Amino acid sequence: MITVEHVQLAFNNHVVLQNVCFSVPRGSIYAILGKNGSGKTVLLKTIAGLFAHFTGTIALANIPLQEYLNLAIEEKIKRNITMAYVFQKGGLFDSMNVFDNVAFGLRRRKEDEAIVTEKVMAALEWVGLSGSEQKLPSQLSGGMQKRVGLARALCLSPSIILYDDPTAGLDPVLADSISDLIVATQEKFKMTSILVTQDLAVARKTAHRIGLLHDGTIVVDMENDEFFSKTNPYAKQFIDGDSEGPIDSM
Ligand SMILES: Nc1ncnc2c1ncn2[C@@H]1O[C@H](COP(=O)(O)OP(=O)(O)OP(=O)(O)O)[C@@H](O)[C@H]1O
Ligand SMILES: [Mg+2]
Repeated sequence: MITVEHVQLAFNNHVVLQNVCFSVPRGSIYAILGKNGSGKTVLLKTIAGLFAHFTGTIALANIPLQEYLNLAIEEKIKRNITMAYVFQKGGLFDSMNVFDNVAFGLRRRKEDEAIVTEKVMAALEWVGLSGSEQKLPSQLSGGMQKRVGLARALCLSPSIILYDDPTAGLDPVLADSISDLIVATQEKFKMTSILVTQDLAVARKTAHRIGLLHDGTIVVDMENDEFFSKTNPYAKQFIDGDSEGPIDSM
């Protein structure tokens, strides 16, 4: 469903992605792990079409990314290939209440306001935030803000969802509740998902397959159980948090 082949991306002379290859079968979750600054967010944004200057191939349902980005929204909806992005920090507008934040994408699609209300209320109910419509983001905990970010993505009924560090900054208990919500969302809506994270617990709980991004490439690409069996030296070092091993600790 999502294929990434030989993707390279640099900013001026700073190469961030060297040769990234992996694919995500339809309806599954692929987690990308990697240390700080390894390029996880850059990779996700590249797949979302935010960095057009990459080389290599990215395709969504066999449609090259550039072609996909040029499709009208009606066409994307008709072909059932819409993509939503859940930002690392929730990406909420501080001055808008929860309802308006969640409604943002639907209104941009010029949906009828009655439909907007119906979809926003359903998405907020799904993430467990019914009754918080009038609150401002600053009145919510970090975990609730992440839930609002997810509701905003979900109310667009995406077939592809890209999560950037959905549990960053959350304590382990809240992080686990977000993992549960991601799994439940996947099971209910069956979208194809990529989730970038440094949180081993969220990857363990949610992902079907795991890639480890290091030095601009995916150095490990394994099924979840195999990754956590630590047979691969990169996987072992990352899981154990060891400063010795193939991953340099700088
Ligand atoms: N718009 C940009 N212009 C130039 N360089 C950038 C840009 N965005 C990211 N970078 C660089 O790309 C590298 C990878 O950054 P990225 O944010 O993708 O890391 P990350 O793996 O998401 O890290 P973290 O785990 O801290 O979120 C960094 O060296 C960063 O400085
Ligand atoms: Mg990041």
